[in-house]
Amino acid sequence: MSALSERPASPVVGRAQPHESAALHVTGHALYTDDLTPRTKDVLHAWPVQSPHAHALVTALRTDAALAVPGVVRVLTAEDVPGINDAGVKDDEPLFPREVCFVGHAVCWVLGETQEAARRGAAAVEVGYEPLPSVVTLAEAVAAESFQGAQPTVERGDVEAGLARAAYTFHGELEMAGQEHFYLETNASLATVEDDGRIFLQCSTQHPSETQEIVAHVLGVMSSDVTVQCLRMGGGFGGKEMQPHGYAAVAALGAVLTGRPVRLRLNRTQDLTMTGKRHGFHARWRAGFDGEGRLEALEATLTSDGGWSLDLSEPVLARALCHVENAYWIPDVRVTGRVARTNKTSQTAFRGFGGPQGMLVIEDILGRCAPLLGIEPHELRRRNFYQDGQLTPYGQVITQAGHLERAWDQVTREAELERRRAAVAEFNATHEHLRRGLAVTPVKFGISFNLTAFNQAGALVHVYKDGSVLVNHGGTEMGQGLHTKMLQVAATSLGVPLERVRLAPTRTDKVPNTSATAASSGADLNGAAVKDACEQIQGRLAQVAAQRLGVPVPDVRFADGVVSGLGTTATVPWEDVVHSAYFARVQLFAAGYYRTEGVHWDSSVMRGSPFKYFAHGVAATEVEVDGFTGAYRTLRVDIVHDVGDSLSPLVDVGQIEGGFVQGAGWLTLEDLRWDESEGDQRGRLLTQSASTYKLPSFSEMPPVLTVRLLERAHEEGAVYGSKAVGEPPLMLAFSVREALRQACAAFGPEGTSVDLPSPATPEAVFWALQEAREGDVAGRGGAPVDGDVEPGAGPRPPGPDPGAPERRPESETALHELSEA
Ligand code: MTE
Ligand code: MOS
Repeated sequence: MSALSERPASPVVGRAQPHESAALHVTGHALYTDDLTPRTKDVLHAWPVQSPHAHALVTALRTDAALAVPGVVRVLTAEDVPGINDAGVKDDEPLFPREVCFVGHAVCWVLGETQEAARRGAAAVEVGYEPLPSVVTLAEAVAAESFQGAQPTVERGDVEAGLARAAYTFHGELEMAGQEHFYLETNASLATVEDDGRIFLQCSTQHPSETQEIVAHVLGVMSSDVTVQCLRMGGGFGGKEMQPHGYAAVAALGAVLTGRPVRLRLNRTQDLTMTGKRHGFHARWRAGFDGEGRLEALEATLTSDGGWSLDLSEPVLARALCHVENAYWIPDVRVTGRVARTNKTSQTAFRGFGGPQGMLVIEDILGRCAPLLGIEPHELRRRNFYQDGQLTPYGQVITQAGHLERAWDQVTREAELERRRAAVAEFNATHEHLRRGLAVTPVKFGISFNLTAFNQAGALVHVYKDGSVLVNHGGTEMGQGLHTKMLQVAATSLGVPLERVRLAPTRTDKVPNTSATAASSGADLNGAAVKDACEQIQGRLAQVAAQRLGVPVPDVRFADGVVSGLGTTATVPWEDVVHSAYFARVQLFAAGYYRTEGVHWDSSVMRGSPFKYFAHGVAATEVEVDGFTGAYRTLRVDIVHDVGDSLSPLVDVGQIEGGFVQGAGWLTLEDLRWDESEGDQRGRLLTQSASTYKLPSFSEMPPVLTVRLLERAHEEGAVYGSKAVGEPPLMLAFSVREALRQACAAFGPEGTSVDLPSPATPEAVFWALQEAREGDVAGRGGAPVDGDVEPGAGPRPPGPDPGAPERRPESETALHELSEA
């Protein structure tokens, strides 16, 4: 066991603790950024002037009429920016643009005494536009060769040789939609100027240090002139990793220019129309299998819809490429990625960060090909699992294949999959208009930032004279329970009760140069830094205690607030040791630091070992589909998920449930639509509210949802043997999609391959089952396959490939049509 992963006696980590702010959350006492507005004097409110065009030059900007509106104090424009007029780090996101690039793009901002005054002022601003041609869909972007950023390839072996060697080859396309974060709290910033001109910014941000840097470069000041604090977020889900920076900068600029506090909080419509979402992706693929259904080769091109600027599109794409094989060994692989530039919001991080989009490709391939190979989908998946010692396509060695196998076996056993598969078959044989599907899918997700430098963290721990403890660390709290875990880590490493420890809000003047709280790495990185700080303090206190107890320093033990020594029954209360230490002039605070060892990544060749370890999970889902409407219900979900030795089991189970439901929303309900017409609404987000954008709610929750944490999963490489949990469970929802596919297939003859759109809304499910029912296996929605599969034909007998030339299906859905430039 490593020093990092080993737990002392009676650790506070591992106990089932409620979220540290649960009581505040449910009583409404928890403060979020915008709750500070009424507590602040003389606040001005900011309102944007938003572009009605998807793409246009700004030819004129007249603000006089706005300034004449009662209560309007100032209009912020490009001329006001003393530093760099850019909201990002790639120099492609002008904060006050001269060219608007999407419907909703803010041209300038109006400050008013009230929000209503600012809104009226914004309506009075006159903007002249010269419309330019726009690119709205991925297909249009490809046709126009509208791309941005790098076009990386992950490659291993000889993919053409692999495909030639394969007994069966298939090809196809998949287009998957993006996803709106729909955090409860929209983007919010509150900027104030201190007496000496320093800026203090309250911001709902996952990345306070980067918010600080961008505010500094917009204002033309140094980072030390700007302090960013994040109390907590009402959800981030990746949507507040880069997107808050520009809004924070507008608020800060307003505060500097007016000398008054400025509040910028997007209302829901503004947040939906201005901020980035999960990237939609298109994938074109060819896959080869041997005679037993083992993957031989995969060739794919992934095109993501990046929106108008790069933001995090490149790292999101890199993670997609590094997850395209999910849990499966593929000898010969070549996967190329590119980011389309479209006139939409700038798409950004979203739970899984491209991983879900990459993994969906292989799960879709397996789901479509299984019936054509004549192999049960669960059998096909299991047969292709990685084994220890094999390398991922980018060169990282697999060492925990057994974790996934155990999780798979446990789900199979405890969810009684064998018995229930028979029951589903029986149900389907005896019901005319209903079909059930039961699918099981694996998740393997890499933990660490691909960019090695981000894998570091800091903490600042204070012990006060009375023995109470205050912890600062670099991570932010967005509901995921990071602070709860950090309290448990601090209590464990100091050997004090949980009640002794408090957490302070995240601030850039306490812990500098932090990484975003992202990539699920918050607890790994900050937990190790907190532990380091606590151990420094404990090491000093051990000297003091050793003298009091008359034992050698290595024999001093701290647990539950009591300090004891090996070989003596004497004990000293923690508070007394602290008190003595202060009078002995022993330092009672420490800065902790951690960097992840052993990760490396060369983005120029897309090779390395970028992940400290993989998190694993398996989910089995049973659904029932109505043949008249395509409406479906999720009947039962069973999950076994690998969180290592859990730091906080209640928090982890909450993350698994929440991630699963959010993933199911992405794959089945949430249908982002943009106006793709040539009319004057072109480029407008059509799903601008919860009335048209369907989020998962109680009514979609499965009546049975069982979550178990994988046992014997101690992780050597992480704090107290734990593993990251934030993102990986989202991808457990693939099982819902695959169950729907199987239920649709059951409306057709045996061997029917179903091509399911994503999201698989009831409407999409209806058309998919309709095609299956018509026996149209190689038609509109059928999986394209080389060699002839006649409509209604049974499963293809295993055997050598007939060697027929690859052919495109006769027709594909418009959704899947994407003309190569
Ligand atoms: N859980 C809640 N309740 N709210 C959130 O915004 N964000 C997710 C996940 N779980 C999120 C959440 C995302 S995208 C990430 S990367 C992780 O939490 C970040 O926190 P961690 O690194 O502490 O796990
Ligand atoms: Mo999470 S998408 O890494 O913020």
